[in-house]
Amino acid sequence: SEVYRAGVAGRRPRVPVSGAALEHAARQRMSRAGFAYIAGSAGLERTADANAEAFRRHRIVPRVLRDVSSRDLSVELFGVRRPTPLLLAPIGVLELARRGGDAAAARAAAALGIPAVLSNQASEPMEAVAAAMDAVTPGASRWFQLYWSSSRELVASLVERAEAAGCEAIVVTLDTHLLGWRPRDLGLGYLPFSHGLGIAQYTSDPVFQGLVRERVARSRASGETRARTSPTPAAVAAFASILRHHPGALRAKLRSGEPLAAVETFLDVFADPSLTWDDLAFLRERTRLPIVLKGVLHPDDARRALDAGIDGVQVSNHGGRQIDGEVAALDALPAVAEAVAGRVPVLFDSGVRGGADVLIALALGATAVAIGRPYAYALAVAGEAGVRELLRNTIAELDITLGLTGLRSVAEVDASVLGA
Ligand code: FNR
Repeated sequence: SEVYRAGVAGRRPRVPVSGAALEHAARQRMSRAGFAYIAGSAGLERTADANAEAFRRHRIVPRVLRDVSSRDLSVELFGVRRPTPLLLAPIGVLELARRGGDAAAARAAAALGIPAVLSNQASEPMEAVAAAMDAVTPGASRWFQLYWSSSRELVASLVERAEAAGCEAIVVTLDTHLLGWRPRDLGLGYLPFSHGLGIAQYTSDPVFQGLVRERVARSRASGETRARTSPTPAAVAAFASILRHHPGALRAKLRSGEPLAAVETFLDVFADPSLTWDDLAFLRERTRLPIVLKGVLHPDDARRALDAGIDGVQVSNHGGRQIDGEVAALDALPAVAEAVAGRVPVLFDSGVRGGADVLIALALGATAVAIGRPYAYALAVAGEAGVRELLRNTIAELDITLGLTGLRSVAEVDASVLGA
């Protein structure tokens, strides 16, 4: 009703309400490489399409005459009651959408009581984002998303920092031990990472800084010349076009040589493809925070996670960015939820584009649902206020859909909503 009233007063929404229009508006606001990185998926993008298509296949069967005049969207997650079943999915390199994007998106989440899952690939250190959230809502809920580095010391350091920064859970993303084959990015030279964006969690880390210093010392000792380690003018120009706002500062930074050592160190330590179930014990011993495994699509892996003492699983195919031809996350959800059988929360993402999608995911067994690309687009279009508006729209659509379906609370949502 707020939207209708604003319309009467002649005020238009800040961000397009329809998903396609939002993506289009974001595209106008972003550099080519920036948009390619956010919108792109693996291979022929069949899995990204399948995520959307899976939602289109489900049909809600409403029940009538059930007094839905008051409705409760809250859910309990890790011992805390949350006002909605929504999370902000971790998205790396948000500065491609807007400078200061990590803090802006997290502040919007904080204002609405939505946990923000802070990406390991953020452009601002987690401590700064946590402080920005506290300025909106003291103690606002944040979780830390970890990419398991090949440096165990770095894993331990990141987790320790997350605890100190007040993060409430560690989300370990398991589908990115190799970076997916993404033609849109490859066609543009993989600009974000090859030019050092999205590595602030690393460059702000004392263990990582030590690794960079070692690398610089090694390359000096081996007589490596500046010519070999400096970026080409074309690379600087391309990098600066992504960071349109401060190209001068950037050029100076790149010339110093140290950022390149940082990028190379990052590429070395980013992931550990040799990781196995046995390694989880290392993390379990180091933190008392709940551990969520993100990227679980097979029921046997969900059972294995429970055996390993994991506190939650997140059904996700990374928005189709990793394996082309991978199962749609929504299609994998029911079997994982059945295997988990209510013992731990089942989180979900990949393809959620509105409140009705949230309801469908809940009906198929999700406890809570993470919003991904749409908030990055809203950030590009209208910054913090844009993300807040997108999230409020999603909550409003969920609330309306719940009531129209004949339900009074998220807790009542089950497979019967889909006529099953
Ligand atoms: C992601 N995702 C992601 N996941 C993660 O665990 N750590 C990360 O740093 C990132 N970074 C990232 C960047 C971009 C640009 C995108 C689009 C996605 C995956 C993200 O958390 C989530 O799984 C997907 O976004 C869900 O798909 P949709 O709904 O956005 O299509």
